[in-house]
Amino acid sequence: MTAEGKMYTQEVLLDREVIAKRVVELGKEISVDYRGKKPLLVGILKGSFIFMADLVRHISVPLACDFLRLSSYHHDRSTGVVRMDFDMTQPVTGKDVLLVEDIVDTGNTLRYLLQHMDAKKPASLSVCSFLYKEVGSGVKEKIDYLGFTVPNRYVIGYGLDSEGLYRSLPHVGALKE
Ligand code: IMP
Ligand code: MG
Repeated sequence: MTAEGKMYTQEVLLDREVIAKRVVELGKEISVDYRGKKPLLVGILKGSFIFMADLVRHISVPLACDFLRLSSYHHDRSTGVVRMDFDMTQPVTGKDVLLVEDIVDTGNTLRYLLQHMDAKKPASLSVCSFLYKEVGSGVKEKIDYLGFTVPNRYVIGYGLDSEGLYRSLPHVGALKE
């Protein structure tokens, strides 16, 4: 049942083995690119927490983690207005910042984030997103490390929620009513 009580069935888009393999690859890629550096990974809550936890364990360079929390979705729809629920606590000036997102959809959140972080004057700023939704938002080129592209459907699992639920699913699925 969904939070509204509707029945749903779920279609698995990415199973846990496929995800695990891709996360290892991303970790290796990031480790090579950041050789000799100590990046600061900034996870965007809440959606990125599972991806971030898996990803950092496959990065071999020393790194620091921080988090900030944004929201723009209400009842599974983007409101278009990005709100900062809480910001990071440590300064990023002079640091090699890697933003870690769960999914880029309309790109509103990413555009906001890049502006917000740029203003803090990091030494470098890159983006790692677990998923990218094929909606033609024009921000795909801003993603330096991408896990998977998904079709234009509402997806859940591996950190992604629907009305606060299903973040704990080990796979990525799409809801069908
Ligand atoms: P955007 O601002 O439209 O790019 O959406 C960014 C944020 O909305 C993501 O970081 C997610 O937290 C959330 N979001 C977008 N699409 C989905 C989805 O299909 N499932 C779950 N969350 C989503
Ligand atoms: Mg998010």
